[in-house]
Amino acid sequence: MNVQQERLWNRLMSLSSIGHHSDGSGGVTRLSFTKEEREAKDRVAAFMREAGLSVREDAVGNLIGRLEGMNPDSPVLLVGSHLDSVPHGGDFDGPLGVLAAVEALQTLGEKQIKLKSPVEVIAFTDEEGARFRFGMIGSRGLAGTLEKSDLHYVDQDGVSVEQAMKAYGLSPDRFHEAARSQGSVKAYLEVHIEQGKILESKNLPIGIVSGIAGPLWLKFTITGEAGHAGSTPMNLRRDALTAASAIIQAIEEEAAQKPRTVGTVGQLSLKPGGVNIIPGEVEFTLDLRDVDETIRDEVEKRILNQAEQICKERGVHCQVDVLQRIAPVKCDESIQQFMMQVFNEMGLEPIELISGAGHDGMQFKDLCPVGMIFVRSKNGISHHPDEYTSLEDCGLAAEALYNAILKIAERS
Ligand code: GLV
Ligand code: MN
Ligand code: MN
Repeated sequence: MNVQQERLWNRLMSLSSIGHHSDGSGGVTRLSFTKEEREAKDRVAAFMREAGLSVREDAVGNLIGRLEGMNPDSPVLLVGSHLDSVPHGGDFDGPLGVLAAVEALQTLGEKQIKLKSPVEVIAFTDEEGARFRFGMIGSRGLAGTLEKSDLHYVDQDGVSVEQAMKAYGLSPDRFHEAARSQGSVKAYLEVHIEQGKILESKNLPIGIVSGIAGPLWLKFTITGEAGHAGSTPMNLRRDALTAASAIIQAIEEEAAQKPRTVGTVGQLSLKPGGVNIIPGEVEFTLDLRDVDETIRDEVEKRILNQAEQICKERGVHCQVDVLQRIAPVKCDESIQQFMMQVFNEMGLEPIELISGAGHDGMQFKDLCPVGMIFVRSKNGISHHPDEYTSLEDCGLAAEALYNAILKIAERS
């Protein structure tokens, strides 16, 4: 093995203390533009310097460590992932990809291998979308797909992306400076935990991603009529929560009709929220995904039709807002071929996988070819404190990434 798996592991464990819940509730919470995300970026910046990379942050706060190529003007190979997390998330979702990339580049430097193309490790700002219910802010910024109106999304305290960026020391009106020009990026590679059970069930450590399912996030607001829980007969109610629960039931049924569609209601709040008051307003989110956009959007239509019908029958009003609509993405064929060669050379079965989770690479479909390596997740658990991937599997993934970088950025 060329990379040092213990060094990678020690850095992962060091990072997992940032935003860690030591009160017994478990996991890490590192939301974007918070002091936890800042601390994580500062620590990774120090690792990047140890790896001999030159470090900077761009206009949307993406942390970038660069290894110069023989030809500094040739298109750059980007390799990375993210450092933010979901609330009470795990230690590996995001950090593994960033730190595997740091390890791969440090190894190249130590072996004094010169590549033709420059390579940049990148830790993207806000991949998860957990804070503003709108994700991939850093990769959108880099891809040039971030819009001014996106900075108006607000968190649960009413703080907008724009305000959060300012508090973080960024100038929001300069976000477009993070965009890379067409032709300036050779490819984007990412190592990520699988967040599923396929590798584990086949007893394989790593796999090659062929496509990424597209997330559609909707916000439903159901407005009925609040009233006295004791004096309002059942037939005279316009209960927003019972309407919402019928819609949620319909979501589960509709998503289950298709083999690969998944639908999740992950946030729900109601007003006024009294034990003896009929709920007058309910807000909930829907995360709907499929690798086939047509199928996903067909399921969306069926859900919206059902919601309309349910609300009509119950005399409540339903408003649906789109939070984000991301198209599924296919990984690049030629990068998959390179990865297959790497796997064969390493004596590993080059299994092909589809990603149900979203990833920053989805933003780059019009910028550059994208390739991903998945790493075995224990019990398939992710977005959960029990998320776990072994030291050996992390090491193999970093080694495969190192070999893939050598093939794609070319030894000179
Ligand atoms: C990110 O992890 C997502 O797929 O929601
Ligand atoms: Mn992730
Ligand atoms: Mn995630």
